[in-house]
Amino acid sequence: MSSAASALARPAAVPEAAPRHISVHPLTGHIGAEIEGPDLSKPLDREAVEEIRAALLKWKVVFFRDQPLTHAQHVTLAESFGAPTIGHPVFGFVEDYPQVYSVARNRFATRHVGEPLIRPWTGWHTDVTAAVNPPAASILRGVEIPPYGGDTFWTNLAVAYDGLSAPLRGFIDTLRGVHAFSPPEGQAATDDFVAKNRKRPLVSEHPLVRVIPETGERVLFVSPSFLKSITGLSPRESQQILELLFEHVTRPEYTVRFRWQPGSIAFWDNRTTAHLAPRDIYALDFDRQLYRITLKGDVPVGVDGHASTAIEGEPLDAFSAGTA
Ligand SMILES: [Fe+2]
Repeated sequence: MSSAASALARPAAVPEAAPRHISVHPLTGHIGAEIEGPDLSKPLDREAVEEIRAALLKWKVVFFRDQPLTHAQHVTLAESFGAPTIGHPVFGFVEDYPQVYSVARNRFATRHVGEPLIRPWTGWHTDVTAAVNPPAASILRGVEIPPYGGDTFWTNLAVAYDGLSAPLRGFIDTLRGVHAFSPPEGQAATDDFVAKNRKRPLVSEHPLVRVIPETGERVLFVSPSFLKSITGLSPRESQQILELLFEHVTRPEYTVRFRWQPGSIAFWDNRTTAHLAPRDIYALDFDRQLYRITLKGDVPVGVDGHASTAIEGEPLDAFSAGTA
């Protein structure tokens, strides 16, 4: 599989016409672009939405500056691009805004105890891949931002797939893996974490390579924090292949690093990226407060046409009153 697979991974289907309602400023060779032009506090017209969507398909994560939105404006923005889910299916949402999840600096303090075993990929993840239909996209907005530190990284999992050798791509194309919420290696779950996960258990098996319908891209769909094992392999085979893939997808050339400011917005394709909040934030006294909305996603489909399957839990549905 090869060169054909590699060609598929190029974003050839993305419209190349110059956008008229936005300007797009790429930040690296493979991922990330800053978008200027639209006022996101107001409803977007259809052309602007389509241009932003095209930039997102191509650059995987797009950034906006100086857009100090309210929760309500954040919800309206998200609804222009899809159907918001509940803030977080396991860890809840902001009072009065069930679609909004608080990404606070100390949100893990009530979930895990002990010191994590730090590996090169520790903390990297794709949002909510324990669900059978992980969110299609996430929109994260910065409110309280430290004067330094607390950046976020994203990595392009389509380019990472392309970067594997052809024989390895051919092998990985055939594999599936189990995704679940659990504390980082070396840490233990708190009673609160166990109780929340019992209330809404989520465990799913996804193909290691998923195909994106709009572009035909093949994506190395590995979410280091949540992908626990490869189905059918021995534990040692599984661990070593996963470590190879986790290390590969976090190579710096596939990534972009974003420096937050109050009013910054990061909007990413959650099907084709993983992201990381580096741990430097915990070495600082500054607070950081972000808010996230995720959009309902499809069930991933692998190269062989087989879809992901739920081992535990229901699909993540669009939020509607009464489902919280
Ligand atoms: Fe995340």
